[in-house]
Amino acid sequence: MFPVTEGYMMEKTSTTFERTLVTSALPYANGYIHLGHIAGAYLPADIYVRYLRFRGVKTLYVGGSDEHGVPITLTALKEKISPKEVIDRYHTANADAFRKLGISYDIYGRTSWPLHVDTTQQFFKVLDEGGYIHTKEMELWYSPQLERFLPDRYVKGVCPKCGYVEADGDECESCGSQYAAHELVEPRANIPGDTSSPILRKSRHWFLDLPKFGEPLNAWLDGHPEWRANVKGIAYGWANDLRSRCITRDTDWGVPIPLEDEDAVGKRIYVWFDAPIGYVTNTRQWALDTMNDEHGWEVWWKDAGTRMVHFIGKDNVPFHAVIFPAMSMGQPDYILADQVVGNEYLNIFNRQTGQSEKGSKSRGNMISVRWALENLPVDAIRYYLCAIAPESKDSDFDWDEFMNRYNGELCNVVGNFVHRCLTMTVKNFEGCVPPAGSLEDADQEMLDAISQQLEAIAESLEEFRFRQALERFIDLGRKANVYFDAMKPWVTRKTDMERTGTSLYVCCQVVKALCYAMVPFMPEGAANLAAILNLTLPENGPEGGEDAWVEAKTLLPAGSSLQTPTALFPKIDKDRIAELAEAHLRGEAF
Ligand code: MF3
Ligand code: ZN
Repeated sequence: MFPVTEGYMMEKTSTTFERTLVTSALPYANGYIHLGHIAGAYLPADIYVRYLRFRGVKTLYVGGSDEHGVPITLTALKEKISPKEVIDRYHTANADAFRKLGISYDIYGRTSWPLHVDTTQQFFKVLDEGGYIHTKEMELWYSPQLERFLPDRYVKGVCPKCGYVEADGDECESCGSQYAAHELVEPRANIPGDTSSPILRKSRHWFLDLPKFGEPLNAWLDGHPEWRANVKGIAYGWANDLRSRCITRDTDWGVPIPLEDEDAVGKRIYVWFDAPIGYVTNTRQWALDTMNDEHGWEVWWKDAGTRMVHFIGKDNVPFHAVIFPAMSMGQPDYILADQVVGNEYLNIFNRQTGQSEKGSKSRGNMISVRWALENLPVDAIRYYLCAIAPESKDSDFDWDEFMNRYNGELCNVVGNFVHRCLTMTVKNFEGCVPPAGSLEDADQEMLDAISQQLEAIAESLEEFRFRQALERFIDLGRKANVYFDAMKPWVTRKTDMERTGTSLYVCCQVVKALCYAMVPFMPEGAANLAAILNLTLPENGPEGGEDAWVEAKTLLPAGSSLQTPTALFPKIDKDRIAELAEAHLRGEAF
């Protein structure tokens, strides 16, 4: 009945499995994605995926828009347009923003696709037939004026726990508590024009019987002591207090309930049931698009050789570490996630108040991906967001820090070393990598450091420590600068061309390694540098291929020709940063 749980394996790495399926949370097609989203669920996933592909691991990266749910129909109501217009607008914009940021999905799907109705209904039916779904009569808020139920955010009122006056129908944004709809105090409809007082009305709904999954869920979680502490904490909290969850709503926007039951009329499957199934739908669509294969998705979801990794924000942990796994346990043969990489939040540092604040639409302090890309180089954004990724605690987006880290690390350490090395080589050795003479200790140590640092970066990435991986990348640049300064090729070239050639030969090897190691983090910079080195970087698709991390350690032969170098990472000056920070403060960055 339940899939066998993978035991914890020491030293498990990406290559322990045959293939890796990576997912990033499907953002609601109800708003533009912003840098907070990127730092948590998207950039780390993309770095991981690019790393795996580069290593030749069979990898599929699935994402897409989450297109059901009350926020979308509410927006439609308020803007007097159809829900379809809402999702088309945001889906298109977000897919475009992801592409420009280099988030390299194999497919960016939509939960409004007809195929998704099929996948979701299958899940529902199988769970129902397995006895994991039951119904219950509930008392829900109803608008006498509009003659409709008011699910979720359609009703607002006073929080029964903390008294917050803008609380939603079933949860409070202020204190985080969840409650039954009828507990809401002083309810009012959240629909323009509805002035009637909501009344309680009975409605029969469908529930997922989570307590039935208690044992296998705990066993599965116990098999993953390696997960981040924040994820385990939330997951166990839920797994030890399982309750049936309502998986239907009174709405006409969502996947129809696949049952011949008169109470199913006017109801749809709840968005949080269908959204994670979107990962499956999008895999199915990908297999159809790329191989015209109806069954091509199954190996990614049902073969024990597949490793599945979810990248999400912390608020999504219960769904990815408890509810969706339970739903999958009720399906025949589905695999479960091997890793759930849950991230904390990226806050905004307000320069005026000196305080860190939560990103919020009403405050106007968020930075959209679109705006960021219009004003900053893509690699600068990727570099900074990875450097401050909120892996184990919240972090702040801060313009001064942005400038210091991008200019001071990526430009000054890596960019500068590459530029100094290549300019001097091209000038003194007719545009070619010079031959190495006899190697001294310092030369050999530098060459050894390349392999060591590449290993160290890979180790960090395998452990989902993206900040550490990036630091180790910069460290290679630091070591290279120390070596370059100690060798003083600009001095030795006046007296000893052979020595100069040897040290520049060694430096060129570091440049090559930096180019390869840059691929997961800064793909644009890597491509530009590869062009200067006349190298073709291997690109592996979902079928996998050669391990380029090994290739990164092979030496560039003497005589290889080089292009005239250009600045890889142009510095952003202080005034420009100040301008952008001002615009951000004025609320123009969204
Ligand atoms: N749309 C949800 C959010 O933005 C995430 C859905 S993730 C999925 O929080 F797995 F359910 F798709
Ligand atoms: Zn509250």
